[in-house]
Amino acid sequence: MTQLIGISGSLRESSLNTALLMSASELLPEGTTLRVASLATVPLYNGDLDVDGGPEPVRVLKGQIGAADGVLIATPEYNYGIPGVLKNAIDWVSRPAYRSVLLGKPIAIIGASPGAVGTARAQAQLRQVLGRTLSEVFPHPDFLLAQARERIEGRALVDERSRSLLREMLKRYVSWIKR
Ligand code: FNR
Repeated sequence: MTQLIGISGSLRESSLNTALLMSASELLPEGTTLRVASLATVPLYNGDLDVDGGPEPVRVLKGQIGAADGVLIATPEYNYGIPGVLKNAIDWVSRPAYRSVLLGKPIAIIGASPGAVGTARAQAQLRQVLGRTLSEVFPHPDFLLAQARERIEGRALVDERSRSLLREMLKRYVSWIKR
């Protein structure tokens, strides 16, 4: 059994990225599960509070990441970069530096945007950020869900071609984790 933890960089109730993650959980290869973590209660990073693993929501998130075989991150794009909510959570869980729960952790990135570029710039930035954490970012062409409002209905990815591309990516990601 391969267990993944999903992280959405959006706190919005009707987030396209959270919907993409929920859809990913239905497209996983057999023997793989995905649980979605919440960043809603993670406080702003403060080095003064970064003792004994940090505040409770941070310790919970670290535990979830540490226990998972891989992390699937769905990032929105805010002003050509990743949202502060996501960067903040990565900053917390990246400590202690070079021996955090992200060390060697297999991470895959996806993203959805109503725009034409489908989070390409945010995904590139996220890869750069994760480089410092010594996690292993899945080497695969970006999964970019552009014009996402037309491709997601409620919590479901309804565009058949996108579903098929995501299914294929997830299959390759899980094989890569197991290699
Ligand atoms: C955006 N949005 C956006 N979209 C994009 O493709 N490129 C961008 O640079 C930005 N910049 C941006 C900044 C800020 C502050 C906000 C609030 C939004 C639009 C964004 O993609 C859209 O709101 C998505 O719906 C956000 O993702 P969730 O919340 O639906 O997952």
